[in-house]
Amino acid sequence: MRILVTGGCGFIGSHVVRQALMIPNVERVINLDSLTYSGHPQNCSDIYDSRYYFIHGSINDGSLLREIFQTEQISVVLHLAAESHVDRSINSVKPFVETNIEGTRVILESILESKRLGQEIDLIHVSTDEVYGSLAPDDPSFTEQNPLNPRNPYAATKAASDMLVQAFVNTHEISAVITRCSNNYGPNQFPEKLIPLMTINAMNGDNLPVYGDGKQIRDWIHVIDHSNGILCAMLGLKMGRLSTGEVVNFGASNEIENIEIVQKIIQLTNAKESQIKYVKDRPGHDRRYAMGFQKAKKILGWSPEIEWDEGLATTVEWYKENSEWVESITSGKYRDWIKNQYGKTI
Ligand code: NAD
Ligand code: DAU
Repeated sequence: MRILVTGGCGFIGSHVVRQALMIPNVERVINLDSLTYSGHPQNCSDIYDSRYYFIHGSINDGSLLREIFQTEQISVVLHLAAESHVDRSINSVKPFVETNIEGTRVILESILESKRLGQEIDLIHVSTDEVYGSLAPDDPSFTEQNPLNPRNPYAATKAASDMLVQAFVNTHEISAVITRCSNNYGPNQFPEKLIPLMTINAMNGDNLPVYGDGKQIRDWIHVIDHSNGILCAMLGLKMGRLSTGEVVNFGASNEIENIEIVQKIIQLTNAKESQIKYVKDRPGHDRRYAMGFQKAKKILGWSPEIEWDEGLATTVEWYKENSEWVESITSGKYRDWIKNQYGKTI
């Protein structure tokens, strides 16, 4: 297998690159990343493997994609590159449309062009549980059969990209699988997201900005479990366990209220309860996500392996031990974002 990972310098992408290199019959892993604010070469700086190569460029550049497909004889694209933060999509949706929808369109058309020239390329399109919308307290978990019901601009652009993929499968018979996953946590996550933001603020003695009543529920999965799931989907499509056009969900049955996570982080960092600051709620805030992953279990033999308590503790430890990474990431534009998003509240 000769793999192109898009967004491999981001949080999940960098773990996918590392996990892919553990598969013995993987001959090549190319990482194409345009290094937006959330992409850092440092996330891959520990990778010393002659099969790995980084290319600084955009998924929106079709001629670059086709050149990589041809010269590197790519057989599978693991597509993770995206604008990924809900709050940013509320402030400005344009980059989300450009990357998540238009970027996916360019990937699909490039794959189609290669197919017409006789090169078959599988696509694993990495999507999110947010495309299914929000659950009421007693609703069952999402399954692959749930209708799409995106409720924030980020989720809408992910749902649009999922539908484009399905349309290309149906119309042009490209080979693609869509994976949808719940909230990831772990090392290397950009500190605009709940767990790294709260961990870093807790360690620094800063305020911990909890949106609304803090009782929103997310279903947390360790990034290594998700990365393994993406690779299982890739192998499942190659081996015929998954057919083109199929969707597969990943989750970990860790439904937890945000406030409980913040309190746990306070304990793990010896911070103070008084650092908690309830702030204005996120507009259109989804109340609850929960992912059913029976299909992944049954068809791919995949299950999450990292327990929440241990996973959270080692994640917090990672942020404590990687102060250089934290410092390089929390300078410049990051500070502007925090000031703009939270104003004087933190
Ligand atoms: P991230 O923001 O940490 O990383 C995104 C990466 O994409 C960055 O390295 C960025 O530089 C790169 N990128 C952005 N635009 C690009 C472009 N035009 N060309 C090339 N590279 C570009 O995001 P993440 O949390 O790692 O998410 C990765 C993927 O997984 C996304 O598609 C996201 O929707 C999906 N996902 C994330 C989660 C989660 O909890 N974080 C859960 C489910 C699905
Ligand atoms: O569910 C999968 C999705 O999870 C991914 O598709 C997205 O890319 C990823 O960003 C994530 O979206 P969320 O909006 O759920 O994650 P976030 O970390 O931004 O927020 C998690 C919860 O914490 C949410 O209910 C909002 C709340 N929150 C977040 C921040 C940043 C706060 O209360 N305070 C904060 O400062």
